[in-house]
This record gives sequence, structure tokens and C-alpha cells, in this order.
Amino acid sequence: MTLRSVIRGSGSALPARAVSNAEMATMVDTTDEWIVERTGIRNRHIAGEGETTATLATEACRKAIEAAGIDAASIDLIVLGTCSPDQTFPATATIVQNALGCRGGIAFDVAAVCSGFLYAFATADALLRTGAAKRALVIGAETMSRLLDWDDRTTCVLFGDGAGAVVLEAVDVDESDPMAPGILATRLHADGAHGDLLHMDGGPSTTGSIGKLRMKGREVFRHAVVNLAAVLEEVLVASGYKADDIDWVVPHQANARILDATARKLGLPEEKVIITVDRHANTSAASVPLAFDTAVRDGRIKPGDLVMFEAMGGGFTWGASLVRV
Ligand code: UT7
Repeated sequence: MTLRSVIRGSGSALPARAVSNAEMATMVDTTDEWIVERTGIRNRHIAGEGETTATLATEACRKAIEAAGIDAASIDLIVLGTCSPDQTFPATATIVQNALGCRGGIAFDVAAVCSGFLYAFATADALLRTGAAKRALVIGAETMSRLLDWDDRTTCVLFGDGAGAVVLEAVDVDESDPMAPGILATRLHADGAHGDLLHMDGGPSTTGSIGKLRMKGREVFRHAVVNLAAVLEEVLVASGYKADDIDWVVPHQANARILDATARKLGLPEEKVIITVDRHANTSAASVPLAFDTAVRDGRIKPGDLVMFEAMGGGFTWGASLVRV
């Protein structure tokens, strides 16, 4: 028997206000055609008054807890990936912990931008397998709209707000059983040499303000396709599975063209790739768990499926994880 982190349930949340490309075109010099052709995005949700990273995360967690059929009080670890926390401190994870009514466990945020969920997932997995905790909430939650320069058409049309969460539990499984559930292999990477290609132009310790999001999109795109294909291959080798064995890829939803290019490199048919970028745009750390929960709830991802998570974002940071659901 071996201790594995098993997904028990998932949940997600979106702000009430949906903003179409047509509405974006009333704010900046853009068109629905340009956005759809270059990114695949048709819609995004934007947080309104009273909606924050923590409120969206809490709603996603409540749904994940309900899906898992557990008591919130039994959660002893919360790891939250975000680059748009409610406050610089305390960690948004502790705000969520309080809102859920669980106390005393471990709770902290992880800053890995669009790879935030993957980094949070790997961190929670490691803590669960060492016995430091038994039941975790792993969250990706963002209010990217509050980081955007709404006069910069090259970035403001690309992002949206939302949250996704999974309950992860340490379970003893028979590893000789190929259908035994849990996280099978994860690989994470970072390369700070490319920090300037996707960054905030401010921060608490430099300008004393949060600044605005800046991105050299074309260069990020080029790195994303190469890095994602490499890390997916790495995870396949580490797990002993082949691309053909994968039932679903749940990628970070930055751009439909990156998703297509990555699937093509792996030789995976498009039908196996979960795509929500059209509805949610790029929700940074929230995008992977939001897409996962969407596909679980619409019945595509089922218990027993082999699912690959992958993401790439500012830093650069990137990673992938293979999970038997
Ligand atoms: O989440 C973290 C990871 N992030 C990503 O993976 C993002 C990766 N990058 C991308 O998705 C794409 O590079 C973008 C969608 C950001 C941009 O697409 P692109 O095909 O690389 O376009 P571009 O930046 O090279 O811009 C092409 C043209 C430019 O005009 P000129 O210089 O050719 O005259 C831009 O000014 O499109 C223009 N443009 C726009 N036009 C209408 C840029 N933004 C817009 C816009 N509406 N919103």
C-alpha cells in the first residue's frame, strides 16, 4: 500500500457579470473578430462590488466540499494559488479558512501566477504524502480585472475572474492496481530570466502600489508551446504512461491556439482537450480547476479517467500533473 493524494470533489465560481467581446469593443479599440481569431475568447466574467478573490474562492470551496460529501471542519490544509490576493497579507487562504469555519490547520497562498494551481496542487500533494495533513483544499482564485490596464487593448481583452477548488485527501491505495486513484506524477519548473515578458509593473516593496499587468504576448506564446510540450513529456515518462492513455487534458486556458498547438505536439486529438477559454478567458491560477470542475459537472470527466493538468505563466513558471480521478 502507498499513500496517495486523491481528488474527492471539485467546485468553481464565477462573478455574476459576464462581459462579451462586443462590450469590450465599447471600451478599447478592438473587435470581436480579432479577439476570437487570435485567442478563441468570446466572453469573460468580471468581479463587481463585493466580489473578491476570497469570496469567489470560498464559493468554489463550498461546492467542492459538498461534492466530496465531507465536513468543512475536517480540512486541515488550504493552499491557494493567486496573484490577485484580497490583501498583501493575511494570506487569502486564511480568509477562506475563516469564511468556511475551519480553524487551526495549515493555510497559505502560493504565488506562481497562471501556474498557481499546479504549484498549489504539488505542494498540497507533498504535504499530504508526508502525513503533515490529511485533507486539503487546493484552490486557484483570481480577480485579474483588478490588475489590468483597461486602456491597454493588448492585455485587457485576454483576462477574466473566477475560482476553482478541489478537495484532496491522503488515501492508502494499492499501487499495483493501475486504476487506483490519485496523483501519479507532477513536474514543476521556473525560469526567472523571462520575468519581464509577463509581469506587474509595481508591487508593495518597489512602488508601494500593485501596478498594472504587462505582457509581451507573442514571446510568451512561443515559450508556452515549447515548455508545455516538454513538461508533458516529462510527466508521461515519470508516470510510465503514453499520450494515448490520457483521457483528458485540462490545460491552462490562455489561448485556444496554444491549446491546439500543444495537443498537436503530443499527438492528442482536440476532443480530449477541455476548453473553457471561450467562456472564461484567461483566469490565471483559476483556469485549470475551473475547467476541471466544468468538465466534471457536465459529465465528461468521470471517476477512473486519466487526466493531465498543465499550465504556464509569469515568472516564467510551468508544470504538469497526471492524475487518476
Ligand atoms: O497566461 C499566461 C500565459 N499567457 C499567454 O500564454 C499569452 C500568450 N500570447 C497570446 O496569447 C498572443 O500572443 C496574444 C493573444 C496576446 C496576441 O496575439 P498575437 O497573434 O501574438 O498578436 P500580436 O501581439 O503580435 O499583435 C498583432 C496585432 C498588432 O498590430 P500591428 O502591430 O500588427 O499593427 C497589435 O497592435 O494586433 C494588434 N492588437 C489588437 N488588435 C485589436 C493587439 N491587441 C489587439 C486587440 N484588438 N485587442
